[in-house]
Amino acid sequence: MSAQPASTGDPKLAAPADLPTHIGVIMDGNGRWATRSGLPRSVGHERGVDALRKTVTAGQKLGLSYLTVYSFSTENWRRPASEVGALFSLLRAFIKKDLKRLKSEDVRISVFGTRSGLPQDICDLLDYAVSETSENTRFNLGIAFNYGGREEIARAARRVARKVMEGELSLEELDQDAISAHLDTSEFPDPDVIIRTGQEHRLSNFLVWQSAYSELVFMDVLWPDFGEPHLKAALETFSARERRFGGLSSGAA
Ligand code: FPP
Repeated sequence: MSAQPASTGDPKLAAPADLPTHIGVIMDGNGRWATRSGLPRSVGHERGVDALRKTVTAGQKLGLSYLTVYSFSTENWRRPASEVGALFSLLRAFIKKDLKRLKSEDVRISVFGTRSGLPQDICDLLDYAVSETSENTRFNLGIAFNYGGREEIARAARRVARKVMEGELSLEELDQDAISAHLDTSEFPDPDVIIRTGQEHRLSNFLVWQSAYSELVFMDVLWPDFGEPHLKAALETFSARERRFGGLSSGAA
């Protein structure tokens, strides 16, 4: 099912009462947005950062606590070097330009993914953004950068296995909670909802462990056009869903 805003910019569209705690977003469609406008793909990514800023602001305004965005996947290395370089430059610019404001807005930044293959200055900037905001509590922004869900699970498995080998953990203690506690996202709750823009209907290796019971909301809008009305529409769709977590619906028993 797709969620589309009833009318973009409708000030009467109120935020639903039962808000999700954690939203994950697959920000898809930057390239198509640019191509449609006869612009280079990098401009689509630039507008994508603007849409990210709007979404963080809307999330704060609506009272969300956790937002995780898929900014660069381990599979994105397959793109031309020029596009990968443009995405890295946008991350640099985003941290340099927005960090001070995010810090003052009590936003805590977390980064998920591997540092392997990333330029050193990007690693340093990511570390800086995390440490500068580590005391913040009002809003949690997770940036999945050089991130792949299966690779994250493999890294968690290695961390847990090392603890078993070193006698810190018994085999019996190696359960689902132990894996969750060793994921990059261990300090975030599982996402209640994952939004994907750009007309594709898949997770593309995003939060694959954590999304076991997430509601999936697919939206036709291309990411650079995403804004508060779309976020509200996705929240409305979420609040209309019945989450049973494998049980029965109320009234069925
Ligand atoms: C998918 O669109 C989007 C990406 C691969 C990158 C998303 C990145 C941003 C929105 C900006 C960078 C983020 C930060 C935190 C600075 P696509 O290029 O696959 O679009 P297409 O499917 O239309 O080609």
